Amino acid sequence: MLADEVVDCHVLVIGSGGAGVRAAIEASQYGDVVLISKTIVGKGGCTTMAEGGFNAVLRGEDSCGIHYEDTMKGGAFLNDPNLVNILSRDAPLRMGDLVKWGAVFDFTDADEIAQRPFGGQRFPRTCYAGDRTGHEMMVTLVEHLDSTRVTTLQEYTVIDLLKDGDRIIGAMALDEKGSLVLLKADSTVLATGGGTRVYDISTNSSSGTGDGFAMGYRAGAELIDMEMVQFHPTGAIVPYDARGRLVTEAVRGEGGVLLNNRGERFMKDYDPQRMELSTRDVVARAIATEIQQGRGSPNGGVYLDVTHLSREQIESRLPVMLEQFLKFGVDIRTTPMEVAPTAHHIMGGLRITPECRTTLPGLFACGEVSGGVHGANRLGGNALAETQVFGKRAGEAAGKAEKRQKRVDEAQVTLQQERLDRFMNGTKSPSQVRMLLQQAMWEGANIFRNAIDLKTALAAAGVLADKPIKAKTPRNLAECCIVENMCLVASLICRSALIREESRGAHVRKDIPQTWDAQNSPFGHTFISKKGQGIEKRGVP
Ligand code: FUM
Repeated sequence: MLADEVVDCHVLVIGSGGAGVRAAIEASQYGDVVLISKTIVGKGGCTTMAEGGFNAVLRGEDSCGIHYEDTMKGGAFLNDPNLVNILSRDAPLRMGDLVKWGAVFDFTDADEIAQRPFGGQRFPRTCYAGDRTGHEMMVTLVEHLDSTRVTTLQEYTVIDLLKDGDRIIGAMALDEKGSLVLLKADSTVLATGGGTRVYDISTNSSSGTGDGFAMGYRAGAELIDMEMVQFHPTGAIVPYDARGRLVTEAVRGEGGVLLNNRGERFMKDYDPQRMELSTRDVVARAIATEIQQGRGSPNGGVYLDVTHLSREQIESRLPVMLEQFLKFGVDIRTTPMEVAPTAHHIMGGLRITPECRTTLPGLFACGEVSGGVHGANRLGGNALAETQVFGKRAGEAAGKAEKRQKRVDEAQVTLQQERLDRFMNGTKSPSQVRMLLQQAMWEGANIFRNAIDLKTALAAAGVLADKPIKAKTPRNLAECCIVENMCLVASLICRSALIREESRGAHVRKDIPQTWDAQNSPFGHTFISKKGQGIEKRGVP
């Protein structure tokens, strides 16, 4: 027998965050869809944790053209212009879908959807539901999903893609007991989200381990700009267990200010025009610099202060922040928060076309696992919009793909079974390997980078990837596969960061002198696949 169970469907969607659920809803109009998730649908993934909002041009002097320009500039002009055009044009439509399906966003007194200012945007464009926008979206999406005929497989971990020659024809997964399941599909949509859990301090849920990047790479897909890791400027730093937890940009959007230990509003030295609402790359670097130069808070951060705002504004617009910090013993109505940068989002990923086709036939990608929309730095609020805009497009294109015969090459399944057997006979604890990897990445591939540190992190990822990790029982096999993925993702980030010998957006190479600005950079995307790696030269065919 090839596997313990075989499932056949028209479209397989891997991942149950905002992009995956949106893709599954759309694809369900064209045939039978299986949505597979390593967590509980709607509960895992990062969308539900997203707080601040969803960028969409809805009215007034703002326009899709300005949204496009802000996104390109914020992304240091590394973004794929076609994808950005689609994002800005379609975001209002996808907001409309959510509202039609019952999502409750905040409204103004004039009975219009409220929009708050976010960094790097010339107009208040970020629609929100208090500071639990992603949660509101996921509740709505899951409710709508329940009205479709999509089959959901929860707590199943996909461990690799299934191929017929170069074509992707589904995936191999482990159920919660560790039994191998084959899923055959005419089209497969990767919507596995991001992977900043490869860092010690991250906003991501524990499921943000980068499985889609790793599986796509192993299958032969091309990935771009994997060096572009966004450090969100404001993560919690105390208590220890809450390190890295998102302190939403909405705090600054509502008027919160950043202060150093001298009480100075230090953003005036880094971006006097935009101050706290500069782009995330600039704010994160400013905070890191203040801390490095000894102007940080006692616990190694800076202060984020909203005590000048009215209690009513804090309680109604930032209720999650208020409650979260009260649990940490800080009343943000009277006391500034302590915050520091935290790994948040991977801007790179699988290269996609506007229809979300990857470089492999049969494989589509959407959401954070794809690359190109955000360039070298993502604007806050563009990720939730991306999940809906490209989730829909991926689901539609995958659904419209023709039905075909799917021939499973048994050798792939045998290789997978050998991989699982190796884990059963391993010796090293996967959690130890994961911890060492996270520390190595935090030290070597952080906000400020240089070749020596990147090579050290890369070497560590290589050594850790070779450790014989052990599954105590078949139930632990999935964890071993995930840790293996994390080592691979870390190496993709470091290799790409070494290739990009310039500073651009979120990627700062302290060891490279530079005479050009982002708009005039001689470089385009870094690319990496099993076939090779490099960086595109602009203006060179
Ligand atoms: O700060 C935030 O609320 C995060 C939003 C985002 O990453 O888009």
